[in-house]
Amino acid sequence: MAEIIIVKTEAEAGAIYGRCVADLIKAKPDAVLGLATGSSPLAAYQALAGIVKEEHIDVSQVRGFALDEYLGLPLDHPESYHSTIYRTVVEPLGLDPAKVHVPGDVLNGAPLEDGDKIAAAGPAYDAAIEAAGGIDVQILGIGTDGHVGFNEPGSSLASGTRVKTLAEQTRIDNARFFDDDIDQVPTHCITQGIGTILKARHLVLLAFGAGKAEAIEETVEGGVSAFCPASALQLHPHATIIIDEEAASRLRHKDYYRYAYAHKPAWQGI
Ligand code: GLP
Repeated sequence: MAEIIIVKTEAEAGAIYGRCVADLIKAKPDAVLGLATGSSPLAAYQALAGIVKEEHIDVSQVRGFALDEYLGLPLDHPESYHSTIYRTVVEPLGLDPAKVHVPGDVLNGAPLEDGDKIAAAGPAYDAAIEAAGGIDVQILGIGTDGHVGFNEPGSSLASGTRVKTLAEQTRIDNARFFDDDIDQVPTHCITQGIGTILKARHLVLLAFGAGKAEAIEETVEGGVSAFCPASALQLHPHATIIIDEEAASRLRHKDYYRYAYAHKPAWQGI
């Protein structure tokens, strides 16, 4: 079972992540961070950037691997995850862009028809993560349908990085980044698999707002099922789920999660 932390604000959640990762970087200057796009991790990146500045932490050796990328968008498209990770993480934290990787980097807008190139990109990405020594802390958001990365319902819980078809709901949810025009949202993506994600040494999932309540209920208190890919976190030995009251609203064991966190010895960290 993952640790569930219920917070009042996104800033509070961000501060918990920021402290955890800042301490990691101090102990391991070339830490490998698993990065995610979406609005959920933004406060966490902001908090980390604040601590890095305040405590003069050297991040020049930090490495990063993003979770996923749209297929068919050139790297310099403003909504490609390559651009998004640069804007939301690399720049504000002052990371070395050469040390931060996004799954579609080698594809750079290659069309879906370019099968050989696209099929090779997934295993190569997993091999690069492995060669870096694996991911130390993987930050995760969650889709309203329970997806993590772009692993839609039905994804193999043992999957590696590969091409997936986006669910209609995900394209609807993400149309806000494409002038509210679903036709502009790519139909396919390349994403770390659930098996890839489970190899990270620590998972930190963030979710806020009532729109995530059902997905969080399935993730935390439902059975482990490909129907809700995020439920695979139940199989991970070190998973932390940080949510606000609204996202926690459907959890039956809220009181216990609160009690456990309130009585946690400070030395345990998250
Ligand atoms: C996208 C990303 C996911 C992210 C999800 C939720 O589909 N591929 O990694 O978790 O959106 O985004 P948000 O945090 O904006 O709700």
